[in-house]
Amino acid sequence: MRILLGITGGIAAYKAANLIRGFSELGHEVTAVPTENALRFIGKPTLEALSGHPVETDMYVDVDMVRHVELGQQADLIVIAPATASFIARLAAGIADDLLLNAVLASKAPVVLAPAMHTEMWQNSATRANIETLAQRGIRVLEPSSGRLTGADSGPGRLPETNEIISFALSGGLLNGKRVLITAGGTREPIDAVRYIGNSSSGRMGIELARAARDMGAAVTLVAANIELPLPPGIEIIRVSSVDELELAMEREADLLVMAAAVSDFKVANPHPGKLKRSAGLTLELKPTKDLVANYAAKHQKACKVAFALAEESDERLIEISRQKLWDKGVNVVIGNSFDSLASSQTEVQFVTDSSSVCLTGSKSEVSVKILELVAPLVK
Ligand SMILES: Cc1cc2nc3c(=O)[nH]c(=O)nc-3n(C[C@H](O)[C@H](O)[C@H](O)COP(=O)(O)O)c2cc1C
Repeated sequence: MRILLGITGGIAAYKAANLIRGFSELGHEVTAVPTENALRFIGKPTLEALSGHPVETDMYVDVDMVRHVELGQQADLIVIAPATASFIARLAAGIADDLLLNAVLASKAPVVLAPAMHTEMWQNSATRANIETLAQRGIRVLEPSSGRLTGADSGPGRLPETNEIISFALSGGLLNGKRVLITAGGTREPIDAVRYIGNSSSGRMGIELARAARDMGAAVTLVAANIELPLPPGIEIIRVSSVDELELAMEREADLLVMAAAVSDFKVANPHPGKLKRSAGLTLELKPTKDLVANYAAKHQKACKVAFALAEESDERLIEISRQKLWDKGVNVVIGNSFDSLASSQTEVQFVTDSSSVCLTGSKSEVSVKILELVAPLVK
């Protein structure tokens, strides 16, 4: 694939060298187009040597070749990394005042932005509005990661790691136009008007899956059960609390269902309508809830269904448990995870199908992308 790598004038511009190398090692041909200001942070010879192509910032050189149109038309994919606040604003406004912006506007190739800037600039309402505008036009935006910035301070605004940018850029379009239904969080079954039986699921994995599916071009509906974390823009959100509400929200057609929510196996037979008073003791009668994923699988034969299995066991035993669940529920994939990785920021899951299993490790966002890359070919 011919990749136009746009580099703009932020402190992270030096990391573009690693991006050129990373894309090239995967067999892609990279043409680097820095802005004038990017060259204050990284040298032209570095970009030329690594990409194997001459680097130009001036539109008015080789005018007979009409460079900006040629660059735009030749590109199969445009990646802007890092993208400054200024570049994002000019692109949102359609201002074509340098070679890079002219090439982007002259191109029909998909565009991926990896913004990087100080936290306040990233959170500024002007930047937020520009990002929203670009996202609505179909430009895929990789959110900056949180960490050390230019000075001693840290926060959201840092350019994500090279491998994250590369996998984000190359995963676009895998779920183009597909309807993806993702459940996340943990259900709560009322005991009385104020108390409930719940679980400690944060919903983070489901959120990351929703974000990854959106970035792969899917129309995503996230059914969020009692999630307190911020939810990503650009997806439909349905908030629910109990298993019954979750069941109702799942009554829709989808090409892919990912059942990441932790669903209560029991509910209280007769929840008290008011608030129960302290007494000597309380006995609750519990009855089993419906098996939502199995029911969905039975009703929606054509859809690809992905379930999760949480088990105390790991490795071989976890794979066996996951495969058994796959057959019991009638789903295509089971993501098995063990208690071991629950408390960790990194996660390790087994991706189990009828005929194979693959161990996936990384941050929850990296693992989500890997899961969907493996699931995408199964979605009809
Ligand atoms: C040391 C330094 C670091 C900078 N880092 C960033 C940055 O990370 N992100 C950003 O949006 N702007 C940053 N800027 C500001 C941009 O360089 C400035 O907005 C410039 O006009 C961007 O030009 P360009 O978008 O055409 O490359 C930085 C400026 C300086 C002096």
